[in-house]
Amino acid sequence: MQLRDLGVGELTRLLNMTREHDLGGPSDALRGRVVANLFLEDSTRTRLSFTAAAERLGARVLDLVAGASSMNKGESLADTARTVEAMGVDALVVRARQACAPHEVARQVQCAVINAGDGRHEHPTQGLLDTYTLARAAGRDQRAWDLSGLTVGIVGDIAASRVARSAIAAMGALGARLICIGPAPMAPRSLESLGCAVTHDLDAVAGDLDAVMMLRIQFERHGEGRAAPIASVREYRELYALTPERAGRLKAGAIVMHPGPMNRGVEIDAEVADGARSRIIDQVRAGVVARMATLRWSLSA
Ligand code: CP
Repeated sequence: MQLRDLGVGELTRLLNMTREHDLGGPSDALRGRVVANLFLEDSTRTRLSFTAAAERLGARVLDLVAGASSMNKGESLADTARTVEAMGVDALVVRARQACAPHEVARQVQCAVINAGDGRHEHPTQGLLDTYTLARAAGRDQRAWDLSGLTVGIVGDIAASRVARSAIAAMGALGARLICIGPAPMAPRSLESLGCAVTHDLDAVAGDLDAVMMLRIQFERHGEGRAAPIASVREYRELYALTPERAGRLKAGAIVMHPGPMNRGVEIDAEVADGARSRIIDQVRAGVVARMATLRWSLSA
Protein backbone atom coordinates (compact mmCIF):
# COMPACT_ATOMS: atom_id res chain seq x y z
CA MET A 1 0.00 0.00 0.00
CA GLN A 2 1.12 3.55 -0.65
CA LEU A 3 -1.09 6.40 0.54
CA ARG A 4 -0.69 8.23 -2.77
CA ASP A 5 -2.77 5.51 -4.45
CA LEU A 6 -5.50 5.23 -1.80
CA GLY A 7 -8.76 6.98 -2.53
CA VAL A 8 -10.43 9.12 0.12
CA GLY A 9 -12.89 6.26 0.72
CA GLU A 10 -10.19 3.75 1.69
CA LEU A 11 -8.30 6.37 3.68
CA THR A 12 -11.36 7.26 5.75
CA ARG A 13 -12.08 3.55 6.19
CA LEU A 14 -8.58 3.07 7.63
CA LEU A 15 -9.00 6.12 9.87
CA ASN A 16 -12.36 4.82 11.12
CA MET A 17 -10.76 1.43 11.86
CA THR A 18 -7.91 3.22 13.67
CA ARG A 19 -10.40 5.10 15.84
CA GLU A 20 -12.32 1.88 16.47
CA HIS A 21 -9.13 0.33 17.90
CA ASP A 22 -8.33 3.52 19.80
CA LEU A 23 -11.71 3.11 21.50
CA GLY A 24 -10.90 -0.50 22.40
CA GLY A 25 -12.51 -2.28 19.44
CA PRO A 26 -12.05 -5.84 18.25
CA SER A 27 -8.99 -7.51 19.68
CA ASP A 28 -9.12 -11.02 18.29
CA ALA A 29 -9.39 -10.41 14.55
CA LEU A 30 -6.04 -12.04 13.67
CA ARG A 31 -6.18 -15.04 16.01
CA GLY A 32 -4.33 -17.91 14.29
CA ARG A 33 -2.55 -15.63 11.79
CA VAL A 34 1.22 -15.08 11.58
CA VAL A 35 2.85 -11.72 10.83
CA ALA A 36 6.57 -11.48 10.01
CA ASN A 37 8.63 -8.33 10.41
CA LEU A 38 11.33 -7.96 7.73
CA PHE A 39 13.13 -4.83 8.87
CA LEU A 40 16.26 -4.31 6.81
CA GLU A 41 16.83 -0.84 8.23
CA ASP A 42 16.87 0.32 11.86
CA SER A 43 13.58 1.11 13.58
CA THR A 44 12.21 1.56 17.08
CA ARG A 45 8.66 2.88 16.69
CA THR A 46 7.49 1.13 13.55
CA ARG A 47 8.86 -2.36 14.29
CA LEU A 48 7.73 -2.45 17.91
CA SER A 49 4.31 -0.97 17.18
CA PHE A 50 3.67 -3.47 14.37
CA THR A 51 4.59 -6.21 16.86
CA ALA A 52 2.32 -4.71 19.54
CA ALA A 53 -0.49 -4.27 17.00
CA ALA A 54 -0.27 -7.84 15.70
CA GLU A 55 -0.15 -9.29 19.22
CA ARG A 56 -3.10 -7.16 20.37
CA LEU A 57 -5.05 -8.66 17.45
CA GLY A 58 -4.14 -12.18 18.53
CA ALA A 59 -1.55 -12.89 15.78
CA ARG A 60 1.85 -14.49 16.29
CA VAL A 61 4.88 -12.45 15.24
CA LEU A 62 8.15 -13.58 13.64
CA ASP A 63 11.03 -11.13 13.63
CA LEU A 64 13.81 -11.24 11.09
CA VAL A 65 16.77 -9.32 12.43
CA ALA A 66 18.62 -7.87 9.43
CA GLY A 67 22.08 -7.96 11.02
CA ALA A 68 21.67 -11.63 11.95
CA SER A 69 19.91 -12.99 8.84
CA SER A 70 21.25 -15.00 5.93
CA MET A 71 21.07 -11.87 3.79
CA ASN A 72 24.50 -11.29 5.29
CA LYS A 73 25.60 -14.42 3.40
CA GLY A 74 24.33 -13.06 0.10
CA GLU A 75 20.71 -14.22 0.10
CA SER A 76 18.53 -11.84 -1.89
CA LEU A 77 15.51 -9.99 -0.50
CA ALA A 78 13.24 -11.95 -2.89
CA ASP A 79 14.59 -15.32 -1.70
CA THR A 80 14.39 -14.16 1.92
CA ALA A 81 10.75 -13.11 1.50
CA ARG A 82 9.80 -16.38 -0.26
CA THR A 83 11.58 -18.37 2.48
CA VAL A 84 9.80 -16.57 5.30
CA GLU A 85 6.43 -16.85 3.52
CA ALA A 86 6.93 -20.63 3.20
CA MET A 87 6.96 -20.86 7.00
CA GLY A 88 3.23 -20.16 6.98
CA VAL A 89 3.23 -16.38 7.20
CA ASP A 90 0.09 -14.39 6.37
CA ALA A 91 1.69 -10.92 6.16
CA LEU A 92 5.18 -9.54 5.68
CA VAL A 93 5.92 -6.10 7.12
CA VAL A 94 8.85 -4.72 5.13
CA ARG A 95 11.16 -1.82 5.87
CA ALA A 96 14.03 -1.22 3.47
CA ARG A 97 16.60 1.35 2.49
CA GLN A 98 15.60 0.97 -1.17
CA ALA A 99 12.52 2.77 -2.48
CA CYS A 100 9.83 0.35 -3.67
CA ALA A 101 11.45 -2.72 -2.05
CA PRO A 102 8.08 -3.75 -0.50
CA HIS A 103 6.51 -3.60 -3.98
CA GLU A 104 9.30 -5.87 -5.29
CA VAL A 105 8.63 -8.28 -2.41
CA ALA A 106 4.89 -8.24 -3.18
CA ARG A 107 5.68 -9.51 -6.68
CA GLN A 108 7.49 -12.53 -5.20
CA VAL A 109 4.97 -13.76 -2.63
CA GLN A 110 1.26 -14.52 -2.33
CA CYS A 111 0.80 -13.22 1.23
CA ALA A 112 0.00 -9.61 2.18
CA VAL A 113 2.95 -7.21 2.12
CA ILE A 114 2.88 -4.01 4.18
CA ASN A 115 5.25 -1.11 3.55
CA ALA A 116 6.90 -0.06 6.83
CA GLY A 117 8.98 2.66 5.13
CA ASP A 118 11.00 2.37 1.92
CA GLY A 119 13.91 4.71 1.27
CA ARG A 120 12.78 8.23 0.43
CA HIS A 121 9.55 6.95 -1.10
CA GLU A 122 6.69 6.40 1.38
CA HIS A 123 5.92 5.48 4.98
CA PRO A 124 2.20 4.79 4.69
CA THR A 125 1.41 3.77 8.26
CA GLN A 126 3.28 6.85 9.54
CA GLY A 127 1.14 8.99 7.23
CA LEU A 128 -1.96 7.28 8.61
CA LEU A 129 -1.03 7.80 12.26
CA ASP A 130 0.03 11.40 11.61
CA THR A 131 -3.26 12.14 9.87
CA TYR A 132 -5.18 10.48 12.71
CA THR A 133 -3.28 12.50 15.32
CA LEU A 134 -3.88 15.77 13.46
CA ALA A 135 -7.57 15.06 12.91
CA ARG A 136 -8.09 14.13 16.57
CA ALA A 137 -6.28 17.23 17.82
CA ALA A 138 -8.36 19.44 15.51
CA GLY A 139 -11.66 17.73 16.40
CA ARG A 140 -12.03 16.44 12.84
CA ASP A 141 -12.13 12.74 13.76
CA GLN A 142 -15.65 12.38 12.43
CA ARG A 143 -16.85 10.10 9.64
CA ALA A 144 -15.56 12.33 6.81
CA TRP A 145 -12.22 13.21 8.46
CA ASP A 146 -12.41 16.52 6.61
CA LEU A 147 -9.21 18.54 7.17
CA SER A 148 -10.16 21.51 5.01
CA GLY A 149 -9.30 24.87 6.55
CA LEU A 150 -6.25 23.44 8.35
CA THR A 151 -2.73 24.47 7.35
CA VAL A 152 0.11 22.05 8.11
CA GLY A 153 3.76 23.07 7.87
CA ILE A 154 6.29 20.30 7.26
CA VAL A 155 9.70 21.60 8.25
CA GLY A 156 13.10 20.23 7.38
CA ASP A 157 14.62 17.57 5.20
CA ILE A 158 11.56 16.96 3.04
CA ALA A 159 13.47 15.93 -0.08
CA ALA A 160 14.84 12.90 1.81
CA SER A 161 11.64 12.20 3.74
CA ARG A 162 9.26 9.31 3.09
CA VAL A 163 7.25 10.52 6.13
CA ALA A 164 6.61 13.85 4.42
CA ARG A 165 5.49 12.18 1.18
CA SER A 166 2.94 10.03 2.98
CA ALA A 167 1.68 12.94 5.11
CA ILE A 168 1.29 15.13 2.03
CA ALA A 169 -0.64 12.36 0.25
CA ALA A 170 -3.02 11.62 3.13
CA MET A 171 -3.56 15.07 4.65
CA GLY A 172 -3.79 16.65 1.20
CA ALA A 173 -6.40 14.11 0.07
CA LEU A 174 -8.55 15.08 3.09
CA GLY A 175 -8.36 18.78 2.27
CA ALA A 176 -5.51 20.15 4.42
CA ARG A 177 -3.25 22.84 2.99
CA LEU A 178 0.38 21.69 3.14
CA ILE A 179 3.42 23.96 3.21
CA CYS A 180 6.89 22.45 2.82
CA ILE A 181 9.43 24.58 4.66
CA GLY A 182 13.22 24.32 4.59
CA PRO A 183 16.37 25.38 2.81
CA ALA A 184 16.11 24.99 -0.98
CA PRO A 185 18.01 21.66 -1.21
CA MET A 186 15.69 20.16 1.43
CA ALA A 187 12.47 21.85 0.27
CA PRO A 188 12.87 22.18 -3.49
CA ARG A 189 10.20 23.80 -5.68
CA SER A 190 9.62 20.40 -7.31
CA LEU A 191 7.58 19.45 -4.20
CA GLU A 192 4.84 21.72 -5.58
CA SER A 193 4.04 18.87 -7.99
CA LEU A 194 2.71 16.95 -4.93
CA GLY A 195 0.11 19.68 -4.39
CA CYS A 196 1.81 21.63 -1.60
CA ALA A 197 3.23 25.11 -1.30
CA VAL A 198 6.98 25.58 -0.74
CA THR A 199 8.74 28.31 1.23
CA HIS A 200 12.24 28.73 2.62
CA ASP A 201 11.10 31.15 5.34
CA LEU A 202 9.60 29.45 8.42
CA ASP A 203 9.19 32.69 10.37
CA ALA A 204 7.10 34.20 7.57
CA VAL A 205 4.46 31.43 7.77
CA ALA A 206 4.68 30.29 11.43
CA GLY A 207 1.62 32.34 12.40
CA ASP A 208 -0.51 30.63 9.70
CA LEU A 209 0.10 27.06 10.86
CA ASP A 210 -2.44 24.90 12.68
CA ALA A 211 0.14 22.14 12.95
CA VAL A 212 3.85 21.95 12.41
CA MET A 213 5.60 18.68 11.67
CA MET A 214 9.32 18.83 12.39
CA LEU A 215 11.62 16.42 10.56
CA ARG A 216 15.06 15.12 11.44
CA ILE A 217 17.93 15.91 9.09
CA GLN A 218 18.38 12.52 7.43
CA PHE A 219 22.14 12.57 7.05
CA GLU A 220 22.19 8.83 6.26
CA ARG A 221 20.11 9.39 3.09
CA HIS A 222 22.22 12.19 1.67
CA GLY A 223 24.81 9.76 0.35
CA GLU A 224 28.45 10.13 -0.36
CA GLY A 225 29.44 12.19 -3.34
CA ARG A 226 26.36 14.46 -3.13
CA ALA A 227 26.62 18.10 -2.09
CA ALA A 228 25.63 18.57 1.57
CA PRO A 229 22.13 20.12 1.66
CA ILE A 230 23.03 22.54 4.48
CA ALA A 231 26.11 24.66 5.17
CA SER A 232 26.12 23.84 8.90
CA VAL A 233 23.81 22.56 11.61
CA ARG A 234 24.26 25.89 13.45
CA GLU A 235 23.01 27.86 10.47
CA TYR A 236 20.14 25.39 9.96
CA ARG A 237 19.08 25.79 13.58
CA GLU A 238 19.00 29.57 13.31
CA LEU A 239 16.47 29.42 10.48
CA TYR A 240 14.48 26.24 11.02
CA ALA A 241 14.79 24.82 14.56
CA LEU A 242 11.61 24.85 16.62
CA THR A 243 12.91 26.73 19.63
CA PRO A 244 10.54 27.91 22.39
CA GLU A 245 10.73 31.41 20.92
CA ARG A 246 9.74 30.25 17.44
CA ALA A 247 7.03 27.95 18.81
CA GLY A 248 5.61 31.03 20.55
CA ARG A 249 4.96 32.56 17.11
CA LEU A 250 2.69 29.67 16.05
CA LYS A 251 -1.08 30.19 15.98
CA ALA A 252 -2.83 29.85 19.31
CA GLY A 253 -3.80 26.20 19.59
CA ALA A 254 -1.33 25.04 16.95
CA ILE A 255 0.12 21.59 17.61
CA VAL A 256 3.67 20.29 17.24
CA MET A 257 4.35 16.90 15.68
CA HIS A 258 7.48 14.88 14.97
CA PRO A 259 7.56 11.34 13.54
CA GLY A 260 10.73 10.49 15.48
CA PRO A 261 13.48 9.78 15.99
CA MET A 262 14.10 13.32 17.25
CA ASN A 263 17.43 15.05 17.45
CA ARG A 264 16.78 17.38 20.39
CA GLY A 265 18.76 20.54 20.13
CA VAL A 266 18.93 20.27 16.33
CA GLU A 267 15.48 20.52 14.66
CA ILE A 268 13.49 20.79 17.90
CA ASP A 269 14.28 21.91 21.43
CA ALA A 270 13.40 19.83 24.47
CA GLU A 271 11.05 22.50 25.91
CA VAL A 272 8.94 22.30 22.73
CA ALA A 273 9.13 18.52 22.28
CA ASP A 274 7.89 18.07 25.86
CA GLY A 275 5.68 21.18 25.94
CA ALA A 276 1.92 21.71 25.95
CA ARG A 277 1.64 21.95 22.16
CA SER A 278 3.45 18.67 21.56
CA ARG A 279 1.50 15.66 20.22
CA ILE A 280 4.63 13.54 19.76
CA ILE A 281 3.71 10.90 22.33
CA ASP A 282 0.13 10.87 20.98
CA GLN A 283 1.67 10.01 17.58
CA VAL A 284 3.46 7.03 19.10
CA ARG A 285 0.24 5.82 20.75
CA ALA A 286 -1.66 6.29 17.48
CA GLY A 287 1.03 4.19 15.78
CA VAL A 288 -0.17 1.02 17.48
CA VAL A 289 -3.85 1.47 16.65
CA ALA A 290 -3.13 2.69 13.10
CA ARG A 291 -1.06 -0.46 12.54
CA MET A 292 -3.84 -2.63 14.00
CA ALA A 293 -6.14 -1.07 11.41
CA THR A 294 -3.57 -1.59 8.65
CA LEU A 295 -3.02 -5.25 9.53
CA ARG A 296 -6.78 -5.94 9.53
CA TRP A 297 -7.25 -3.98 6.31
CA SER A 298 -4.36 -5.83 4.59
CA LEU A 299 -5.60 -9.24 5.74
CA SER A 300 -9.31 -8.41 5.18
CA ALA A 301 -9.96 -9.39 8.80
N1 CP B 1 8.96 7.25 12.60
C1 CP B 1 9.65 6.10 12.41
O1 CP B 1 9.55 5.45 11.36
O2 CP B 1 10.44 5.73 13.44
P1 CP B 1 11.32 4.41 13.49
O3 CP B 1 12.41 4.58 12.45
O4 CP B 1 11.85 4.35 14.88
O5 CP B 1 10.45 3.25 13.13
